[in-house]
Amino acid sequence: MKLEEAERLIEKLREEINYHNYRYYVLNAPVISDEEYDGLMRRLMELEGQFPELITPDSPTQRVGAPPREGFATVTHSIPMLSLQDARNEEEIREFDARTKRFLGLNQGDLIEYVAEPKFDGLSCEVAYRNGRFSLASTRGDGVVGEDVTPNVKTIRTVPMRLLNGKDIPSYLEVRGEVLMRRADFERLNRDLLRRGEKPFANPRNAAAGSLRQLDPNITAQRPLDFVAWGVGIVEGMEFKSHWKGLSVLEELGFKVSQPRRQCHGIEEVLAFYRTLERERDDFQYELDGVVIKVNSLELWEKLGTTARSPRWALAAKFKPRQKTTRIVDVSYNVGRTGTITPVAILEPVEVGGVTVSRASLHNFDEVERLDVRIGDTVLIQRAGDVIPEVVMVIKDKRTGREKGISSPERCPVCGAQAVKEGAYYKCVNVSCPAKLVQAIKHFASRRAMDIEGLGGKTAELLVERGIVRDLAQIYYLTLEELLSLPGFAMKSAQNLLEAIERSKRPTLARFIYAMGIPNVGEYNAQVLARYLGTWKRLEEVSLEELMAIRGIGPETARGVISFFQEKRNRNTVERMFKSGLIIQEERRGESPLLDKTVVFTGALSSMSRDEAKALVEGLGGTVSNSVSRKTDLVVVGENPGSKYQRAQQLGIKTIDEGEFLRLVGKA
Ligand code: IVH
Repeated sequence: MKLEEAERLIEKLREEINYHNYRYYVLNAPVISDEEYDGLMRRLMELEGQFPELITPDSPTQRVGAPPREGFATVTHSIPMLSLQDARNEEEIREFDARTKRFLGLNQGDLIEYVAEPKFDGLSCEVAYRNGRFSLASTRGDGVVGEDVTPNVKTIRTVPMRLLNGKDIPSYLEVRGEVLMRRADFERLNRDLLRRGEKPFANPRNAAAGSLRQLDPNITAQRPLDFVAWGVGIVEGMEFKSHWKGLSVLEELGFKVSQPRRQCHGIEEVLAFYRTLERERDDFQYELDGVVIKVNSLELWEKLGTTARSPRWALAAKFKPRQKTTRIVDVSYNVGRTGTITPVAILEPVEVGGVTVSRASLHNFDEVERLDVRIGDTVLIQRAGDVIPEVVMVIKDKRTGREKGISSPERCPVCGAQAVKEGAYYKCVNVSCPAKLVQAIKHFASRRAMDIEGLGGKTAELLVERGIVRDLAQIYYLTLEELLSLPGFAMKSAQNLLEAIERSKRPTLARFIYAMGIPNVGEYNAQVLARYLGTWKRLEEVSLEELMAIRGIGPETARGVISFFQEKRNRNTVERMFKSGLIIQEERRGESPLLDKTVVFTGALSSMSRDEAKALVEGLGGTVSNSVSRKTDLVVVGENPGSKYQRAQQLGIKTIDEGEFLRLVGKA
């Protein structure tokens, strides 16, 4: 290929890729598949590999890969990046409006046109474009001098490397905006950091700042950052008369721009927007800490001018803060619907974001340990929307030495049964604990457990609320009269439910174990236990050591089983079930059709996920492999099978469809 031809192709590819980047990252509306996109990228990389002299710094291939640096160079902003005057309530917002009118010599009855937009809680940043190409990015710094973060900002996909080809492209443009991290991404990042033993960030803002200000841009590249534009610095070769128009132009040039934003006639419309946004702030993917109110006309910006620190044409109307400090006076334990026991901090009451808070969640005992929180500690708490407030951190400077540690619960505070650790949580082992009975019934009756059709969450709730079912076994003693007394039940539906309950009395051992909701025993463990032990009686009598010796059974599961049977109420419940005529279909060990068989799945299954299917096979003593070879015993063929299906046919390996698979594993 000739150089000119390569250059033409490369240009075309870059343009296409930039456009698809924009569709994907800015508009969230891709028009090609990921594979097609990867294909374009691959072709561009190949061409640039052949013609390295054609690589430019704004090529989409150059977003990542810049080497780490020694420190940040400084950038002097051509127009200082000022801060904003604050307002903390509606009165102060109205005062801003009155002040502005006085300054402009308007009557108080006149209406000023404003633009209201969210105040994003991130890190402000300026990105410069020369002739439509990304050239420099800097942080706000002290407002006059910032840091050069060009290679880092390049990794943010919502920052265009080239301005979108519209009509006019300014010869020079400085775009200002906020570097942000979505709340969900922030939580995911923190989980990853914790898992790797690194320090988590306190909030999305710090996470965004810490990720952007990395000397190694390759670290920034791995962080899910976003850029939302809210204004401009210097603009050459293009003009607009209002802030609103400026934002629309930025949108046309390919930026993600403050949303939702509104043009408001007069301050009352601004206040309406402010109230709505404050009410809905938790529906946003990003942290918002207020509304920025800007006079719309740029001519008025000129007239109003700036003070030393902030422009007179803008105001940050802050939302009520939702973090406060207070003291933990005690800890109580709360039992959730699944029997999870969570520690709750009892607080000296404080007002946070308009409500008085006297309790805050500590989530779980791993969290208690991570926060190193003690009774008597002064803590920072945070309220987010409707969820109950949480403890964010301990103010350790305020410790007196008289604080008391928080111990994990030994017993369920509701029913007094043993508490067993399940992951980061403690759970009540009593299947019929009042706190979790509704969930227990729902789980017991679910399709993959006892499969009692017609016994869903709503019926379970009614049965428990009305005191008809007080322990799980009572399901098998329900009468027609009792069911008919429930709203929504007629003769036919009541009879149907009784029949479904009757039909459930012949479960396999694995299903029954799973249905009992033993701590740390899911479907897979239930199958392993059933296969190794063979009878319920053996499970009841097995020792901790024996359990731990079973392949696939870990110490937490083993302890779950032991504590389950230590609880007399559980043994009684099961006994009463047997008395009602429930008989477990005892499976003899080693009779599993999949014992020591290698199974491969291809295509999608409609009744379960791959992971669930894998668990089933493993529970029956088989292994799942990803590729078909001569060692494969069985290929399960789902919807739209891949090449594995052909390979199985070539090798003459047995294939079955999903229905046959379900029958084989006893799920049909
Ligand atoms: S306009 C002269 N608009 O808030 C400053 N700022 O407290 C004009 N911010 O440094 C700023 N969202 O980092 C503006 N929609 C928005 C904003 C916004 C967040 C930040 C920005 C600024 C800080 C001022």
